[in-house]
Amino acid sequence: MKGLILSGGKGTRMRPITHTAAKQLLPVANKPILFYGIEALKAAGIYDFGIIVSPETGEDVKKMVGNGDRWGIRIEYIMQDQPLGLAHAVKVARPFLGDAPFVMYLGDNLIKDGVAPLVDRFKSGHADAFILLKEVSNPSAFGVAQLNDDGRILCLEEKPAQPKSNLALVGVYLFNQNIHKAIDEIKPSRRGELEITDAIQHLINTGFHVDSHILSSWWLDTGKKDDMLEANRVVLDEMTEATMEGAIDGNTRISGRVQVGKGSKLTHCTVRGPAVIGENCALEHSYVGPFTSIGDGARVSHAEIEHSILRENCRIVDFHGRVEDSLIGANVELTRSEHKPVAYRLMLGDDSKVEVI
Ligand code: G1P
Repeated sequence: MKGLILSGGKGTRMRPITHTAAKQLLPVANKPILFYGIEALKAAGIYDFGIIVSPETGEDVKKMVGNGDRWGIRIEYIMQDQPLGLAHAVKVARPFLGDAPFVMYLGDNLIKDGVAPLVDRFKSGHADAFILLKEVSNPSAFGVAQLNDDGRILCLEEKPAQPKSNLALVGVYLFNQNIHKAIDEIKPSRRGELEITDAIQHLINTGFHVDSHILSSWWLDTGKKDDMLEANRVVLDEMTEATMEGAIDGNTRISGRVQVGKGSKLTHCTVRGPAVIGENCALEHSYVGPFTSIGDGARVSHAEIEHSILRENCRIVDFHGRVEDSLIGANVELTRSEHKPVAYRLMLGDDSKVEVI
């Protein structure tokens, strides 16, 4: 069984953060989202990986992920020159996939229970494709499946305006070689993409066996800022260990599950977990509240932050008001100025969003 992880796309819904970073590399609990998918597939006994990348962010993905040695897996990078759909990505990956069965995993998806039980079920069954479904409140944002009373799939539709059910297609699919012929026979959708949803529907129409499973545990598609914060909350909520590899002074109070990385120093701080603080951070006279991830090299002084993600090397110094519900890119500075006139002085990238009190 091979693994095909999709890490291309433009991440338009997460600008400006994605002007300079692939969305799949954004951190959840200080670990790139993409790593969760790789680790889930590895835990299912998969060692042969193809990672689909785009011209815009491919180099960054390669640099961050490497050749797979750290996980003991093989990784081949596959360039998809244009974002022409998930089925198009499978087409581009055909030389890597050959006729092997494979798991296709969308690199911005997170599922709680991993994929090992699903891979076992697929291997021991006779299905040509196996899809995961999850009940959601906004099905129009996803591929949607309609099942009959016995749980058999009747039809699949990509982002329908009038969804026939509340069952969304999760971004994890298992296929055998029959998917390739189906992909060759479908046409691009209205949005101009070769949809994997249409390819699976084509399998059903031509008499192949498509099985499904409805997830009861959480699934997160981290396409937008609030999804990222929710993913961060859920993953931190499940973190079981508190670890202290840095140093804290006698005036610092830590409660709940908090992880502090090597070389980090906390002075006069209150930290309430679950939270992670990366390596080589300096925090002083500050409050870090639950569901916060602070990236390596941060400096936080006389500031408060909660339910937020800070990428690496941020500086938050003498900042009035609590930073909450925020996703902050690398090397960002939030500081207070004594210069007159009193004013907000901003340097914000395209598509930035700022809310002030
Ligand atoms: C893709 C699929 C959709 C699926 C979703 C899951 O949509 O086309 O069927 O429900 O992933 O994350 P996208 O996120 O690429 O718009």
